[in-house]
Amino acid sequence: MRQTILLLGLMSLLGCQTTAPSLKTSGAPSKPESPAQRDARMAWWREARFGMFVHWGLYSGLAGTWEGKPVGKTGGMEWIQQRVKADTDTYAAAALPKFKPTPGFARKWARLAKEAGCRYLVFTTKHHEGFGLFDSKAGDYNAGAKLHRDLVKEIVEACRAEGLRVGFYHSVIDWHHDQYAYAKSKQLPHPLKGKPYPNGERDHSKYVDYLHKQVNELVSNYGPVDVLWWDYSAQDFQGQEAWRAFDLMNMVRAKQPAIIMNNRLFRSPEAGWSGMGTEGYIPTLDPKYGDFITPEQHIPATGMPGVDWETCMTLNTTWGYSEHDHAWKSDETLIRNLVDIASKGGNYLLNIGPKGDGSVPEESVKSLHAIGAWMKKNGESIYGTQASPFASLAWGRCTQKKLAGGNTRLYLHVFDWPKDSKIVLPGLTNRPLKARLLDGGRRLDATAGENGVVVVMPAIASDPIATVAVLDIAGVPKIVKPVK
Ligand code: GLC
Repeated sequence: MRQTILLLGLMSLLGCQTTAPSLKTSGAPSKPESPAQRDARMAWWREARFGMFVHWGLYSGLAGTWEGKPVGKTGGMEWIQQRVKADTDTYAAAALPKFKPTPGFARKWARLAKEAGCRYLVFTTKHHEGFGLFDSKAGDYNAGAKLHRDLVKEIVEACRAEGLRVGFYHSVIDWHHDQYAYAKSKQLPHPLKGKPYPNGERDHSKYVDYLHKQVNELVSNYGPVDVLWWDYSAQDFQGQEAWRAFDLMNMVRAKQPAIIMNNRLFRSPEAGWSGMGTEGYIPTLDPKYGDFITPEQHIPATGMPGVDWETCMTLNTTWGYSEHDHAWKSDETLIRNLVDIASKGGNYLLNIGPKGDGSVPEESVKSLHAIGAWMKKNGESIYGTQASPFASLAWGRCTQKKLAGGNTRLYLHVFDWPKDSKIVLPGLTNRPLKARLLDGGRRLDATAGENGVVVVMPAIASDPIATVAVLDIAGVPKIVKPVK
């Protein structure tokens, strides 16, 4: 007996687990993939650079209005249930009658995404409100049970028909399930927070069983799923403890070996999160926590070599549709954001919030068409490119591609047109081979000077948002500190 106690004491001193396996590592994949396998799995995603995010659920029909009054002009109206502190029955009674998807809505989304130049579409299969857009046998708060439709199937088929990759956003937070034990976290939101459970005690493991069953349906019933976009965890409630996260990821990978997952089942520095703020990401990610990190509504100041990342962003200030939010970003902001992100080696996941009938707000359609028109002419400077070799450029941004034979193609995105028409690539020592405008192909002069390479642009910008010049150089970029 005494020996056992001593042994247990020694084991705990050494950090060994005596009973439950470590919450951080239990269930982590036993055979990690090689870097080459991982690169192959991530290849399409890294090449894509631009995706469409869709937030759509019961909140979309409410449109930011509760009992006839606007809940706010800005901020995420997919959180309306939490904003008005409604219990799930009151919320569903108000919202369900307003959620009326018209036939064919999904084809319109997919066409819009395609026209905008998006290569993938990630949509909410279930948001925090808990309503599933699929036909789930695990419960009755879903489109199958309430609308006799499988909206996930409709959306997946529409994406496939347009040749888009498709991803499932899935909220692990659930404001509907009667066993979701919201008192376990001080940080995660819930409309009834601070109040006792209306149904007495809750057994959170029953909610987790339900979560796993629903995710199992999602990865089993719709063919290949390209992305699983989890949302989200808190420092005080996350991972294996909160969601049996490693088991969940293993189950998903067993069904969909090629799938790409984000890091939001966790919230720790090793998983790329340093705090609770949406900007609280850090440039590290141990692959056992996911494949990419998710700066939200924010573009990092610099790239993150070795870490895959995706900035998700709204077109106005809400993810879910609100009739009161008119703070639309300009086409200039959106296109330059896309360029900026590509120049730092990241992806841009740009959100639409369709209305309760599935139609997309006109302002969003217009902006996406503007991006699409730019991408039609300049997409080559975004897709399949890598981060800029320059730390910063006064006049704009740069992306690059390797050329066969060891040379490099630089794409120079000019935001601020130089008065003398000359753009300087400071400190670039490579020999310029040839230069041209991407749109139209007009030849440009490029010369090596004392302070780097100088490209002479036309007197007037052909595209005031971002005109792209293509410069081929000998070898891989070599940059020294410019003289002066
Ligand atoms: C947040 C919000 C949410 C939104 C998401 C998108 O975590 O809770 O409403 O879906 O981020 O990144």
